[in-house]
Parts: sequence; C-alpha cells; structure tokens
Amino acid sequence: MTDTDAALARVRNLVDPAMRAAMDGLDNEIMRRVAGYQMGWVDADGRPTEAGGKAIRPAFTVLAAEALGAPAGRAVPAAVAVELVHNFSLLHDDVMDRDVVRRHRPTGWVVFGEGQAILAGNAMLVAAIEALQLGGNAGCLPVLLTAIQELIAGQSEDLDLEGRTGVTVDDVMTMEAGKTAALLACATAIGAVAAGADRESVELLRAFGHDVGIAFQLVDDILGITGDPSRTGKSSSSDIRANKRSAPIVAALSGTNGAAKRLGEMLANGPLVADEDVALASKLVGEAGGLDFAVEQADARLADAMARLDRLDVPPGATEALAALARYVVDRDR
Ligand code: IPE
Ligand code: IPE
Ligand code: MG
Ligand code: MG
Repeated sequence: MTDTDAALARVRNLVDPAMRAAMDGLDNEIMRRVAGYQMGWVDADGRPTEAGGKAIRPAFTVLAAEALGAPAGRAVPAAVAVELVHNFSLLHDDVMDRDVVRRHRPTGWVVFGEGQAILAGNAMLVAAIEALQLGGNAGCLPVLLTAIQELIAGQSEDLDLEGRTGVTVDDVMTMEAGKTAALLACATAIGAVAAGADRESVELLRAFGHDVGIAFQLVDDILGITGDPSRTGKSSSSDIRANKRSAPIVAALSGTNGAAKRLGEMLANGPLVADEDVALASKLVGEAGGLDFAVEQADARLADAMARLDRLDVPPGATEALAALARYVVDRDR
C-alpha cells in the first residue's frame, strides 16, 4: 500500500460516519436507498455492500487542512459536503450522458429510473449544504455554493458542446474548469478555510486544487478512450459514441494529419453506433495526437500545481501528502 493509498483509506474512515449520518437523515426511504446505492454502501435491493468511489476530493480537503496545521477533524464537515456534491453530480451526469455503468455497477438511473436518480441527486445536494451549515465554519458555505454553480455551468457547457463543430481546445478547457476543476479547487480551498487559514493560503490552495482539477479531468478524458473498464469501472467508449467534445477528441480534430481529417469525417455524421467505428475513431484520436496533447497538458498542470504548493508558508514537508495525492491523480489508471 502506498502512502497515498493509506491517506485515502484514513480519510475515508474519518468521513464515512458523518457521510452516512447525513444520508440516514434523508426522510424518504427511496431517497435513502438511491443515495446509499450511489455511495456504494448498499446494492440495488438495499443489502449492505462495499462499492464506493476513490474519495479523492475529501482527501484533498482533509490533507489541505492538515498541511496548514489543523487537526483532520476540523475539516470533516467540509469534506463530507464536497464528496456529497461530487456524488450528486455523478448521479445526474450519468442520466445526462446516458451512461449505464459506474464504479463497476449499473448506474443509479438504470437501477432506479431517471426520475428517482434525479430526485436523489437533488436530495444529496441539499444534504451536502445542510451538513456544512451545521458543522462547518461561516466561511465554508460560500466556497461550496460558488463551486456548485460553476460545476452546473460546466455541465451545461459539456452538453452544449456535444457533437458541435468548430469547438476549440480553449472551449473545452473552459468547460472542464467548470465541470471538474471548480469542485477540486473548492475541495482544497474549503479545507484551508476550515483550518482557519489566512486569505493568501486559501487562494494558493484554491489555485493548486484548480490546476489538479484540470489535470484530473484530462486524465478522465484519456481513460474515457483508452481506459480498462475492469480498472475504471466505467465505459471507455461512451465519450466517442456520444460524440463528446473531450480534450483529446477536440485536440485530435484540430490536428492537420490524415488521421485528424478521417476522424473529422467520421464524427461529422453524428454519434457512432458500430463497435468497429468506435474502435477506429479511438485509434484515430491517438494518431492525430489527441492523447499526447492531453498527457502533456495534464503534466503541465501538475507542475503548475506543485509550484503553488511550494509558495505556501508552512513548515518543510507539510505539503508532502498533498503533493503525492496530486501525482496520484495524474498517474492513476482508474
Ligand atoms: C469522476 O470522478 C467524475 C469526474 C469529475 C471526472 P472520480 O474519478 O473521482 O470518481 P469516483 O468518485 O472515484 O468514482
Ligand atoms: C465529469 O463528467 C464532471 C461531473 C460529473 C460534474 P464526465 O461525464 O466527464 O465524467 P465521467 O467520465 O462520466 O465520470
Ligand atoms: Mg459522464
Ligand atoms: Mg458528463
């Protein structure tokens, strides 16, 4: 087990009771069931199981607070809120993306229907806000609320870009900053706020989280094409099938070689259906330089993120765990 695996497990154990308490507090039994399924605590019939996500965001929150010298416990309500917002966004994201597998299981809407999945996402979002209102300090809530609005805007842009021609890499990076980097920026900034940090430290950690968040989504985009579903627990063909405008796809489309042209022709005719077409388009994304572009960008953002950490005014070694988690984000295969 690496130090980062140990940190992820430690934070998961720390926040789990509060997260379960927040979901147990939902009045409606169906909402509790769908939320419990989304969190990986129960199967479709409500029987206990263990099938959650990586819990990267609450780890960033707790490690940010600890880097600033605060005890982990002080960041727990904020970490709970951030992870609940993440899970609300995933429940809705799978409805919108029509994805049928997540975390190695059928998605919430496939099991419970779109309506119940949407409602449970709403319930989780409100519970996240309540958890923070009850347990966080006064500065935390505005940080979370701003990030939620940015995430929603980014998700709207994602849907709007789907299948469109003339989309630039800048359009995609703006969209990805909203849908993903905003919540990772929030995860680290809110940990700093929970720790009672000064404004400069909060802003440095926010910028660190934002850079990590962009790298995070770039890697997600790569795994969305070349990932091994037995590792990622989700599809590695649905982005291309749905004609998504992910970073590698748009970078490939803006290339000038034969592969870029061929890819453009394929995707101009709407979503791809046949497995052979999806496989060919995936290959063309690589040949047109789309995957290399995303890898380079992710590495560059990681380097930017590390430079922010170096500027933080803390004792030597205090940011080591945060730096290791950021590297894990870029090196991950799931
Ligand atoms: C997936 O996030 C959605 C994105 C924002 C890219 P994660 O990869 O953190 O998902 P889980 O929580 O570990 O399943
Ligand atoms: C991630 O969206 C962003 C949010 C869920 C807010 P994606 O659609 O890129 O993520 P996956 O690949 O389905 O996890
Ligand atoms: Mg999706
Ligand atoms: Mg999506």
